[in-house]
This record gives sequence, C-alpha cells and structure tokens, in this order.
Amino acid sequence: MKHLLSIDDLSTDEIHQLFETAADMHDVQSREVKKLPALRGRTVVNMFFEDSTRTRSSFEIAGKWLSADVINVSAKGSSTSKGESLRDTVLTVCAMGVDGLVIRHPASGAAVQVSEWVDAAVVNAGDGMHEHPTQALLDAYTLQRRLGSLEGRHVAIIGDLTHSRVFRSNIQCLTRLGARVTVVAPPTLMPSGVGAWSAAAGFETSYDIDAVLPTADAVMMLRVQRERMSGAYFPSEREYTVGYGLTRNRLALLKPDVPICHPGPMNRGLEIAADAADAAQSVVLEQVSSGLAIRMAVLYHLLAGEEL
Ligand code: CP
Repeated sequence: MKHLLSIDDLSTDEIHQLFETAADMHDVQSREVKKLPALRGRTVVNMFFEDSTRTRSSFEIAGKWLSADVINVSAKGSSTSKGESLRDTVLTVCAMGVDGLVIRHPASGAAVQVSEWVDAAVVNAGDGMHEHPTQALLDAYTLQRRLGSLEGRHVAIIGDLTHSRVFRSNIQCLTRLGARVTVVAPPTLMPSGVGAWSAAAGFETSYDIDAVLPTADAVMMLRVQRERMSGAYFPSEREYTVGYGLTRNRLALLKPDVPICHPGPMNRGLEIAADAADAAQSVVLEQVSSGLAIRMAVLYHLLAGEEL
C-alpha cells in the first residue's frame, strides 16, 4: 500500500491485517508512556482544507505516539488564502521533505489528485462527498470488537446518504467483511442511481426506519450535512426527526445491546436524540478511541516499511 485513498485500495486480508495492528496500537493507549519509536525521523503533515475535530487530532496524536514529527497546515492561516493553488501548496510543503501527507479537502477526488503530484504517502482524511476510508475502517473495527465478527451481521446505515463520504466508504468496507447492510434515508437524501449501485455492491435500501431497526445488529446514524445542501430537497428538521431520527421512542425498537454508532459531529435532537447518543449501547466515544488506533496502524504500515 503506497497510499490510502479509498477502501478499494485495500484487499480484505489487508483490512484484517490493519485491524490486528490496530489492536496492538490500542494497547499503547492504556500504557503510562504512550510512545513507540516506529516513525522516528519521519515527518507527517496534516493538511486540512475543511474543519475537523476527530480526524485531525487523532492523526496528530497517532503520528506523535509513533514518534514522527507532525506538522498541521490548515486552509485558514496558509497561503491558500492568498490564492495559492492546491498543487503549489502541496508541492511547497513536500519540498521540505515530507514522508506522509494526510489531506482533507472539500473537493471529491482531491486526495487522488494530490497523490499523483507528490512522492509522499497520501492518506485521504475525507474528500468532499467521495470517501473517508479511515472512518470506515474505525467503524468496522469498533463493530468487530463489539460483535466478534461482521460476517452475516445486519448493519443499518441511516441518514443523509447523498452527502456522506462516510457512507460511501462504509458500504465497501462492511460488505467486504461479510456484513449485510441496509441503508435508510428519505427519498430526497437517497443518492441518485442507488438502485443499480446497491444491486452491484450487494446492499439493500429502505425508506422505512421503523421496519429496519428491529432487524439490525448495529445501527450507524449519519449526520445531516446542512453545509453541503441547498434547502430545496431537505425535509424540515421536524419532519426529518419524526421520519428518520433515532428518537427515544425508536430506541425501544432495537434488539438489546445493539451498538449505536455515529461518526460525529452529531446534530443532537436532529438525526439522533440525546437518549440514543448517551445510551449504554452507544459506541460513539469508542469509535473515537478506535480511530486513534486505526490511524496509528495506517501510518505505521504506510511509513514504517511494514508492508501490509
Ligand atoms: N467523523 C469525522 O470525520 O469527524 P471530524 O470532522 O471531526 O474529523
């Protein structure tokens, strides 16, 4: 693996190998001294052209715990505000001797484009509505730890699918690991062409959250991405919650102990009620700590010479 741009870059065996490395990295989190020497002398740049809390900070901690030198560059405060192009920006940064470039960008395909310009290993930390591969890996890793295996398990992915890169990466990752996936959205937030896509990729679609929830072994709620939509095709917030939110009443439809995931940031009271986000079966914060382990594993395999 030279870059991680898409779940498609990984074979199923490689996903399992990453999970094994992540399990070792998870142990580091419980140590008093959280440092491994694996990436000593390596430089990782986190280049974020879109806001982030979880992904940026976990890649920064991951790099530091592996002893890499980690630099953060964000659109705000960089020379992109003076009109410098993406190409000139990444070539400038990489001219300083960068080994790994973690990039988030609002344009779908930006990470693939950057990987063609630079020698550094590129990790896609979310590109527009396209992909967010480390999020899918951490989601599947979290569920595998909870459920033992994803083989034959029914995962319901519910929310604003049209705008979700998390959904696009998760479909590939979860189906590859043997899960049965049903996606649920209002018709206005179901991606166009989903019929042919679901037939080819092997997932199911539904507009009826109340029919799907009782059959789920895991539930993944997705954020309503108001910043990516024009108001035209969005139900009102009240309609959305009534029709598609994981409300307190809907919690009663779930089988006992079904893990509730959300990649964050959450719109509490819109797609997920506080009772669900904070329920005993919520794994939202477990996803965050799994994210650190997964990102350590990804940086380790990309930069420490440990081929997958
Ligand atoms: N899930 C996720 O990507 O969160 P951030 O935008 O905070 O990184």
